[in-house]
Amino acid sequence: MLPSPKRLTFRTSGYYILQALCVLALFYYLRTTSIQSIQPQNSHPKSDGIPKIIWYKLGPKGLNSDTREWTDTCIRINPNYRMEFLTDEDADEYVKKSWKFRPDIVDIYLGLTIPIVKADLLRYLLLFDQGGIWSDLDISCEGVPVDDWIPQQHKAAGLVVGWEFDMGWGTAFIRQFASWTIMAKPGSPHMLQVIEDITASLRGIMEKQEIPIQNVTLTMTGEIVDFSGPRRFTNSVIASIGKSVNRTIKLDEISQLLQPKQIGDVLILPGVSFAASANTYTDEEKEQLPPKLVTHHYAGTWKNPEGGETV
Ligand SMILES: *[C@@H]1O[C@H](CO)[C@@H](O)[C@H](O)[C@H]1NC(C)=O
Ligand SMILES: *[C@@H]1O[C@H](CO)[C@@H](O)[C@H](O)[C@H]1NC(C)=O
Repeated sequence: MLPSPKRLTFRTSGYYILQALCVLALFYYLRTTSIQSIQPQNSHPKSDGIPKIIWYKLGPKGLNSDTREWTDTCIRINPNYRMEFLTDEDADEYVKKSWKFRPDIVDIYLGLTIPIVKADLLRYLLLFDQGGIWSDLDISCEGVPVDDWIPQQHKAAGLVVGWEFDMGWGTAFIRQFASWTIMAKPGSPHMLQVIEDITASLRGIMEKQEIPIQNVTLTMTGEIVDFSGPRRFTNSVIASIGKSVNRTIKLDEISQLLQPKQIGDVLILPGVSFAASANTYTDEEKEQLPPKLVTHHYAGTWKNPEGGETV
C-alpha cells in the first residue's frame, strides 16, 4: 500500500510549536557547546562533482530476488559507478574507522539497537563523509543514467533531493523529501545538520530516561518518519539551507515543482523524479516535467516492532 503524507491537524500545529522550541534549544546548545572538529579525517580526492558511488545497505538476509532485480536496473545503466553493498558489520567498521574524529557519534551509532534508526543515520554519515548516492534496496532505476540526473546548470549542487509528497495532496499536508535516494558531495553542511539533529534527539532521550543508548527503543523515539526518516531529513535540510543563505526558506518557494529548483547549493527535484507514484499532475503539467528517474517499491522491511530485520 502506498503511504500518504501526514495531514495537518491542531495536534500537528502543537507539534510544530514544540519543534520550534526544540530547534531553539538546539541552536542554543550549538552556540554554547564547542563542537569538535567536523572535518572528516580522511582526505577526499578533489573532485568537482558528486562522487560516482552508489551506497546500498544490506539487511541480515542480504538480497532477495526482488531487491536483486531492482538494484540490477541501476547497476546495468551506470557501469562507470562504484557500487557498494554494505552489511551491518561493514557499516559498523566503516563508522568506527571513518568517524573517529567524532567519538560521540561512533558511540551512538554502534550502541543503537533499532535497525531503522541505524539505517537512517548511516546514509547521512556516508553522504557527509564520502558523498555519492544513497539508494535503498527497494529502488529501481528508470533508464536514465545517474550522470544525466542533474541538469547542466545545476551541476555544482552539493546536495540533490527529490520531493516524495509535493503535488496532488491539497494544501493541508506535510511535505517531505524522499530519503530513499539522496545525492551529495562530501562535506555537505546540510548532511551534518541532519546528523547533529538526530544525535541530539537521541541524547535527549538518554538524558531524560537516564538510560544508555543501547536501551533506546522505538516507543521512545516516536514516529520514525519524524525521528530519523524523511520528515526529519526534510526539516533539518530546509533549516540548514536557511542558515547557509542567511534567511528563512519558505516552503512555497520550493513547492509544487515542475522543474528542478536550486536554493543555496541544494537542488530540489520535482516529485516525479524520485516519487512519481506519490504525486499527481495535470496533462499540461506533465508536458513540463523532467523524466522519472527511480521507482520506490515500498518494500518497507523495517516496518515491524523491532524496526527492521533482526535475523
Ligand atoms: C538496559 O537494558 C538492559 C537489558 O534489557 C537492562 O538489564 C538494564 O537494566 C537497562 N538499563 C537501564 C538503565 O534501564
Ligand atoms: C544575516 O542577516 C542578518 C539580518 O539581515 C544580518 O544582520 C547579518 O549580517 C547577515 N549575516 C551574514 C553572514 O550575511
